[in-house]
Amino acid sequence: MSTSSLPGLLPELEIVRKDFPILERTFEGVPLVYLDSANTSQKPQIVIDTMVDHLERHNANIARAMHHLGAESTEAFEGGRDAVARFIGAPDRDEVIFTKNASEALNLVANTLMWARGDLQIGEGDEVVITELEHHSNIVPWQLLTERTGATLRWFGLTDDGQLDVSNIDELITERTKVVSLAWVSNMLGTILPIAEITKRAHAVGDHGRGAVVVVDASQAAPQLPIDLAAMPADERPDFLAFTGHKTVGPTGIGVLWGRRALLEQLPPFLGGGEMIATVRMEKSTYAGIPHKFEAGTPPIVEAVGLGAALDYLSHIGLDAIHAHEQAITGYALDGLATVPGLTVLGPLDATQRGGAIAFELDGVHPHDIAQVLDSQGIAVRAGHHCAKPAHARFGVQASTRMSSYLYTTPGEIDALIEGLEYTRRYFKLA
Ligand SMILES: Cc1ncc(COP(=O)(O)O)c(C=O)c1O
Repeated sequence: MSTSSLPGLLPELEIVRKDFPILERTFEGVPLVYLDSANTSQKPQIVIDTMVDHLERHNANIARAMHHLGAESTEAFEGGRDAVARFIGAPDRDEVIFTKNASEALNLVANTLMWARGDLQIGEGDEVVITELEHHSNIVPWQLLTERTGATLRWFGLTDDGQLDVSNIDELITERTKVVSLAWVSNMLGTILPIAEITKRAHAVGDHGRGAVVVVDASQAAPQLPIDLAAMPADERPDFLAFTGHKTVGPTGIGVLWGRRALLEQLPPFLGGGEMIATVRMEKSTYAGIPHKFEAGTPPIVEAVGLGAALDYLSHIGLDAIHAHEQAITGYALDGLATVPGLTVLGPLDATQRGGAIAFELDGVHPHDIAQVLDSQGIAVRAGHHCAKPAHARFGVQASTRMSSYLYTTPGEIDALIEGLEYTRRYFKLA
């Protein structure tokens, strides 16, 4: 299919693809078809060049260096924070905290809430609510918190078509709820969750004056949905939002936690070390203001600089346009997958209700075998539980194969996947 005949595709798709040097790779003469962007996205030249330039010309530690290079490096690092704040519409740039990935951002919230005192303190009788489709990074930290505090973990289930089952929301979100933590977009089912509705409900309960604390795991949302925190009505705006740099065409080794200033100021530090203190005496220390209170030690400097370039690159293309592209490709992929005999898609079948990750099963073939045969055709997909074991268990499967697209994916690559799956069926004598 020609890349221009599908409504919604990025009009400059071929130019965008040229920004990503890795897409030119071939394997034994077979061109790479990269359909694993929900796992990690590829990097445009501007991100690579910005990071190389920083290392070649501006490298120094930040904040503590008393020289020109240190000042340049600090400016570049803080420029990364400004880019994040712009990208998510953060009301205040000091509310943006750098972590090493989304997992650390979510652990930061869970741990500091575990240690919090006063109206944020969590203990027996309190409840933390998550969902059955979460990535393990948004399950295990809350299991640890509830096990350690005596609180109870509860969760929203899923409907058969992979949507969040909100039929028992009144039983789940109650006066006992202290925290609600949920993904915006599922990395396995692709489902887009009604975070505004749930945040509003969570903010309206609780006997501690502020409602439950709402944490949104935006790891799969940030790459493909426009986010504008400042534009959200206050009661629908989450209290924390986490995402990871490497899925937004940025480098690995950096993640983001945005949090509401009042909460961040109230919470205790996560890790102790250099740069997060105001004063240190042998008996006791006092802490820096936000965001530095939560950034102990030398931060991921060149990664923050690269992330800034990545987010500016995505904003330049436009998140509305990227979202439309993802929807067009996802719809095209769902149509193609529906033609493969014995193939079942896990999750919503309507492209407008889902993100760009599509997990599926093919009767009679193990997902690892599918991924291996596709790899022999140059097609990179993921196979396994995708760090979402409970969601797989809900659908009675141990593992699945997952294709995931991004702003550089073409309809031709989806055609290659469908042909690859036909080839897989022939290979295993199913056709
Ligand atoms: C929804 C979701 N949450 C959290 C994560 C964890 O990201 P990281 O491994 O970069 O911490 C991922 C990564 O796959 C994800 O898809």
